[in-house]
Amino acid sequence: MGLFTKFFIATICVAYIAVKWTTPRFDPESLKGARVLVTGASTGIGEQMAYHYARFGAKIVITARREKVLQQVAEKCLTLGAQKALYVAADMASDSDPEKVVEFAVEKLGGLDYLVLNHIGPSPFSMWEGDVEHTRWLMKVNFFSYIQMAWKALPSLEQSKGSLVVVSSLLGKVSGPFAVPYSSTKFALNGFFGSLWHELAMKKSNVSISICTLGLIDTESAMEKVKGVTNVPAYPATEAALNIIITGATRQLNLYYPWFTYLIDIVKDWSPSITSYAIQNSYNYNP
Ligand SMILES: NC(=O)c1ccc[n+]([C@@H]2O[C@H](COP(=O)([O-])OP(=O)(O)OC[C@H]3O[C@@H](n4cnc5c(N)ncnc54)[C@H](OP(=O)(O)O)[C@@H]3O)[C@@H](O)[C@H]2O)c1
Repeated sequence: MGLFTKFFIATICVAYIAVKWTTPRFDPESLKGARVLVTGASTGIGEQMAYHYARFGAKIVITARREKVLQQVAEKCLTLGAQKALYVAADMASDSDPEKVVEFAVEKLGGLDYLVLNHIGPSPFSMWEGDVEHTRWLMKVNFFSYIQMAWKALPSLEQSKGSLVVVSSLLGKVSGPFAVPYSSTKFALNGFFGSLWHELAMKKSNVSISICTLGLIDTESAMEKVKGVTNVPAYPATEAALNIIITGATRQLNLYYPWFTYLIDIVKDWSPSITSYAIQNSYNYNP
């Protein structure tokens, strides 16, 4: 084995041990009775988060647009061990619903320990064809509603030494094709909540912010979009959900799931042309 290879392996090992050593330990008991609001919880990763919080014995409010589906998820949460499971139907494209949902949760739960912002509006997985109206609408759902809810919830989170958890994407760190409006909303989220994190730290706020960068996850909506278009591996929604919850509960700023999304985020700056080549060639596209 050459000197460089030995050095490279040693560096990886040291980095791994350092990360393990400095990562705070997750205590599942800390979530017993925790007051949690999860958005986009009728399906996908949000639904899986609701079930995990339920198993940990949390008090949950879930929201999305489809009331009947929310009702079923809430019922399942109760059977899994949630101390409370309430739901409220809301459209995050509306001007008033985001704040009303926070008011509902704070009132019904008597405060808030976790605000988990996870919902996304549907968006086509295709080349940008100039649909500005759709992008404006998506910004409202995927970005503006997040900042409205965060602002509304901050006083309650400040009081409870709570956590703001933002579910983002690798497409909010590294740009790629076929998801121009979606990617824009995720870059906006990372910029906003990354900056807010600094301000809260400078104000010595009690509130922690966690920004979760996810790769491809095997939810129905995502799998439907990428079918036949890419061979990038998809990771389980239930595991992604658990990782998000642990990141929030341990008050860490960043989650990268799966782990190699972190590597991609770093390498894109070291070697932009190789990264761009790899990204463009990970899709089947014949013009
Ligand atoms: N899956 C992936 O590959 C992947 C990769 C990277 C990041 N992520 C991130 O992970 C999070 C969850 O993704 P997912 O794949 O689980 O999404 P999903 O399965 O498509 O679920 C989206 C959720 O948002 C709700 N929603 C949609 N439009 C809404 C609106 N106008 N108002 C309120 N709620 C609305 C949906 O419920 P209703 O239809 O009932 O409203 C649903 O509960 C997102 O932030 C996404 O960006 C996912």
